[in-house]
Amino acid sequence: MISQEPNPAPVADSAGQVPARPKAAKTSLGGRTAREGYVWFVGAGPGDADLITLRGWRAMQEADVVLHDSLIDSALLVGLDAELLFVGKRCGRHSMSQKEITELLVDQALQGRRVVRLKGGDPAVLGRLGEEALGVADAGIAFEVVPGVTSATSVPELAGIPVTHRGLADSFVVVSAHRCNEGSELSIPAYRARTTLVLMMARSTAPQWQQQLIREGYPHELPVALVSRGATEEQRVVLTSVRFAATDLEKSGLETPVLAVVGQVVSLHARLGSRRIDSVEERVHCQ
Ligand SMILES: C[S@@+](CC[C@H](N)C(=O)[O-])C[C@H]1O[C@@H](n2cnc3c(N)ncnc32)[C@H](O)[C@@H]1O
Repeated sequence: MISQEPNPAPVADSAGQVPARPKAAKTSLGGRTAREGYVWFVGAGPGDADLITLRGWRAMQEADVVLHDSLIDSALLVGLDAELLFVGKRCGRHSMSQKEITELLVDQALQGRRVVRLKGGDPAVLGRLGEEALGVADAGIAFEVVPGVTSATSVPELAGIPVTHRGLADSFVVVSAHRCNEGSELSIPAYRARTTLVLMMARSTAPQWQQQLIREGYPHELPVALVSRGATEEQRVVLTSVRFAATDLEKSGLETPVLAVVGQVVSLHARLGSRRIDSVEERVHCQ
């Protein structure tokens, strides 16, 4: 049976301090002493360690083992009383297949361990939460999802580009720019002036998504912001347009992860862009 809460939520003391939850007590199963395994799927937020939720941070304090991806701020992993297992990508290649990751999760929990599966941003936004949660649910393991701050909205926002803004955009669409098969179309919708488009995994397929934007009627001069390593001290923002997006991305040498924001809201960056002295901002071809 799937339970949503392993322990009652801790209550703040009179000084407002919230104590960490104690590790799970041992339970007796059929005369044997065993601990029940448990899985938290935790969203780590977009980059900076302190953008994780309080609930996610608490789960990390309780975990016996943390399976983490590559887009996680390493500061989140320091000082944990847990085994750390890297299951992300190195040099663009997955260290483990998706099937192996799900099997590892299930295996760890069946050993009675309390497992945190830590994923960048929000686990359900292009994060394969569903596949892993189905594997855990099918194995009869109790689990909980701890949502995270997705990069889809927070990275533009931290770069001074709110994805909606009265008079400019009243909706936004998030699209994966990763193509499973060579030649397959991306899910880019037809152009609508008041919809902001956020393209994720935008680094390596820029020529394809740029051509598709043009086919879908996006004006050549519509502003585009390319944001690399947002929410970190290495954030870079390149301002360009639909016409020049692919060549400017290539010229800029932006490092992954990169997302692209397409729409009139990009113009707000000029007034709302970060004033952090460490942020790098480049205006390439933008009018
Ligand atoms: C596989 S998707 C996972 C998204 C994640 N689940 C989320 O909610 O943010 C990875 C893509 O998210 C975007 N991304 C994640 N973190 C980012 C960051 N700090 N700066 C820029 N883009 C980021 C990039 O487009 C990257 O290729």
